This record gives sequence, structure tokens and C-alpha cells, in this order.
Amino acid sequence: MYAAHFNLAQTPFSLTPDTEFYVGLPQHNAALAVLNTALNAGEGFIKISGEVGTGKTLLCRLLLKQAPADWQLAYLPDPSVTPLELRWALAAELGLKHSANIDASQLLQLLQRQLILLAQNGKKIILVIDEAQALPDDTLESLRLLTNLETERRKLLQVVLFGQPELDQRLASQQFRQLRQRISFSYTLPVMSPAQIRYYVRQRLIIAGATPALFSRLALAAISRYSRGIPRLVNLLAHKGLMLAYGEGKSRVSNRHIRFAALDTEDTQRASRYYVWLLGATAIFSVACYAWVQR
Ligand SMILES: Nc1ncnc2c1ncn2[C@@H]1O[C@H](COP(=O)(O)OP(=O)(O)O)[C@@H](O)[C@H]1O
Ligand SMILES: [Mg+2]
Repeated sequence: MYAAHFNLAQTPFSLTPDTEFYVGLPQHNAALAVLNTALNAGEGFIKISGEVGTGKTLLCRLLLKQAPADWQLAYLPDPSVTPLELRWALAAELGLKHSANIDASQLLQLLQRQLILLAQNGKKIILVIDEAQALPDDTLESLRLLTNLETERRKLLQVVLFGQPELDQRLASQQFRQLRQRISFSYTLPVMSPAQIRYYVRQRLIIAGATPALFSRLALAAISRYSRGIPRLVNLLAHKGLMLAYGEGKSRVSNRHIRFAALDTEDTQRASRYYVWLLGATAIFSVACYAWVQR
């Protein structure tokens, strides 16, 4: 709605992980490099973890988009499935035509045959699981068993897990020690630094066709403070900031707009309340010091 007002070709801070808006930050480039290296080396399990909103689904989509022709990718966006449903989902992704009335062991045989066939045709088969922290215990364990399938020379199935820190906590338990030992390549996405946030906002504005100076320096500092470096929160605050500036007919987003945006945003409220509290405490302290000096 504010696109015309700010001369934008499209909305710069949408919440959907759109690969067209990818900004090559060092952490995301590093995650992609780990994925490429490990997948090319034929590793069985690779894990990318990160807090909510740090860019995991976007990386998932980039991986699917940039995959070379000899990679056959199977994508599981919602992993809250039973071990059997997982096998069915994998079968469907690998293009297996089958009748629904086969039993679990027949399905496993069919899968194995399909994996061998694809491998013989020079394909690398990669199962990509987003939101992996939601995998039930038995499904997580069944994944390990699936990656046991191998030829004499290499694994038939490689698995990439994208998950929130809860996934790491679960993997740390005794129950998953075998799986944990299989994960030889992993990467944890850090949040963005203030300099990276400025770069991120600027790049997304450029992609959307805007002049990059739409946010004042103080507005960018406020985005940094309230977002805690989490890309999704940066998008939310920047989007709301643009809406508020538009509502007032302003050509630039100010610090004040971002403060209002933060008060109106669930995950940033605590930070903004803390800030207001800190300002209040500082004011009281200054008045007390002044009174003391004047005594
Ligand atoms: N490097 C990046 N470049 C552009 N946008 C990013 C980047 N990292 C994260 N984002 C954006 O941040 C938002 C949250 O990312 P998402 O992948 O949904 O996070 P997660 O899956 O970790 O919760 C999305 O809008 C996504 O496009
Ligand atoms: Mg996600």
C-alpha cells in the first residue's frame, strides 16, 4: 500500500522467505558453503541450526533452487510425521509410483530399489527437512536407519536437517548419541550485528527498487536494538515503520516510527519496555544527581 508513496517496485520487507531478496550475509554464505562441501563429500547427515527467524527456511529454498542437475532433492517442510509417513513422503518425492496397500517392509524395499536406481543414474539423493526440531523421536531414529542404506562406495541417502536450538538440545540426549555421532558437518546461524542489519536493510531496499536512505540513522539503530539481530523481526519493524511514515505522509522512517512499531510487535515488546524503563531510570538518576550537586 505504501509502495507508490516511497517509489518502490515491490514490498521490501515481506515475511515470506523469498530467494529473490536474498542478501549474501557472511553467516548465510557460510551455511551454504558448509552444505555444499558436506553434500559433495557424500556426508550422511548435515545440520543447520538457528533461532526462530534467522533464515533457515530461506536457506532451504536457496539449496533447492541452486542444486546442480545431478542432485535429486526430496523436501519435507513439515516433519511431524510417523516413521511410516516419512517413508511414504520420501517415496512420493522420489517419484515412486506404488499402490497404497503395500506394507511397511515392502515400502522400504521399494525405496531401497529406487535409491539404487537413482544412484546408478548418477544421482545424489538428498532429503531436506525443515523444522527438524518437530520430528518425533521415533521418526528421528528411523531417519538414521534410512541413511544406513548404502552401496559399497557411498551412502544412498544424505539428510540435511534445518532446526531450532531445541533440535540441538534433543540431539544432546543419550538416546540420540548414534545419530549425533553421524553429524560430522553442522553450522549454527548467528544473529546479525548492527553493521550487518544496516547492510541488510539497505540491500533489501535496493532489490525493491528504492533509494536506500529511506530510514534515518537513528531508525536503523532502533531496528538493531529491538530486533536483537533477528532478520524476521527486522523485516517486521521495517515494514511497520514504513507503514507509519506513510500514514503521516513522511518521506523517511524515523526513530519514533520504529519505537511505535516495536510497541506493536509481540517479540520486540520486551526490549522496548526495557528501553523505556531504562530511559526512566536514567532520568530519575540524573535528577537525583542534579539535586545532590545543587545541595
Ligand atoms: N540473508 C538473508 N537475506 C534476505 N532475507 C533474509 C535473510 N535471512 C533471513 N531473511 C528473511 O528473514 C525472514 C525470516 O527467515 P526464515 O527463513 O523464515 O527464518 P526461519 O526459517 O529461520 O524461522 C524471511 O523473510 C527471510 O526472507
Ligand atoms: Mg522456517
